[in-house]
Amino acid sequence: MGKQKNLDCLILENLRGQDSYISGEELARKLKISRQALWKHINSLSHKGYDIVAVPHSGYKIISTPDKFYPWEVQRDLNTEFIAREVYFYESLNSTQDSSRELGLSGASDGTVVLTDVQTKGRGRMGRSWISPKGGIYFSLLLRPEFLLLEETPQISLLIALGCVKGIKEATGLDVEVKWPNDLIFKGKKLGGILCEINAETDRVHFVVVGVGININSRDLPPEATSLLLGTGKKFRRLDIARKILQAIEAGYLKAQKRNFSAVLKEWSRFCMLWGKRVRVKISNRTIEGEAVNIDERGYLLLRQDNGFIERVSAGDIVKVIPVREGFL
Ligand code: BTN
Repeated sequence: MGKQKNLDCLILENLRGQDSYISGEELARKLKISRQALWKHINSLSHKGYDIVAVPHSGYKIISTPDKFYPWEVQRDLNTEFIAREVYFYESLNSTQDSSRELGLSGASDGTVVLTDVQTKGRGRMGRSWISPKGGIYFSLLLRPEFLLLEETPQISLLIALGCVKGIKEATGLDVEVKWPNDLIFKGKKLGGILCEINAETDRVHFVVVGVGININSRDLPPEATSLLLGTGKKFRRLDIARKILQAIEAGYLKAQKRNFSAVLKEWSRFCMLWGKRVRVKISNRTIEGEAVNIDERGYLLLRQDNGFIERVSAGDIVKVIPVREGFL
């Protein structure tokens, strides 16, 4: 389902603004279609999950809207300059990363978003798979960060993680933390992750596809993972969360674009759950340990080792986190 500003959308716009019934005759006239055509569209909206009642002699009234990432729903009241100007939604995909990459190669615009309800071949970092059952938010964002050099692209995943945490907080009031480089942690377990795939040549970045997976109302997850539902016992509206996340991501991105990435890092740092903790990081084929003390201006993790030496880690996977006073077992 691609970008659509179709009749369904116009019908919804008309129904939404109304507390009372809107007569079929009036609506059909306004949209310059027959009453029969209107009825057909109302029917198709019902199939999409919109609860619309039709009462003879009164007309139509909308009772509820589905928690689905239809492009017109994602874009509704979305206060962004360029992110999600183009939105694609699919009930199921292998991976939003693949669709987004194809869009990137065929020249889709900066900020294009691909969302899905389910992924059958979701990908995680380090070649892992990403279990993507119903109930989660899975999207890929196509970015064309012309202002960034290839070595500066780690900035992107940090600002995306920050956008996720802030967006979730705004939509739900819940406190989610970040674990370097870009895991989202809720009540000590992994709630979501970010996968950044870059299309570049030597030092020129053509585009970046950033994939975001967040467990919202999901139940069947691996033991090391959680969802907002599992952590709170409550269900949440994914659409509201996704919109807030997209807005928060754009705010961070615009700061980075204006060369104010330090402001993003400062904020990211406030949400990081590693400070003062001893961590073990796997970097390709070696593992290092130390106390996580800070992050530098490029987004590298600073680890204080036992001999006092500060090691800067550009990329890796945190395999263990222990409060400093306990030390490793
Ligand atoms: C991680 O390993 O922590 C990163 C997980 C990223 C998952 C998201 S879900 C949407 C997008 N499509 C994918 O196949 N992966 C990313």
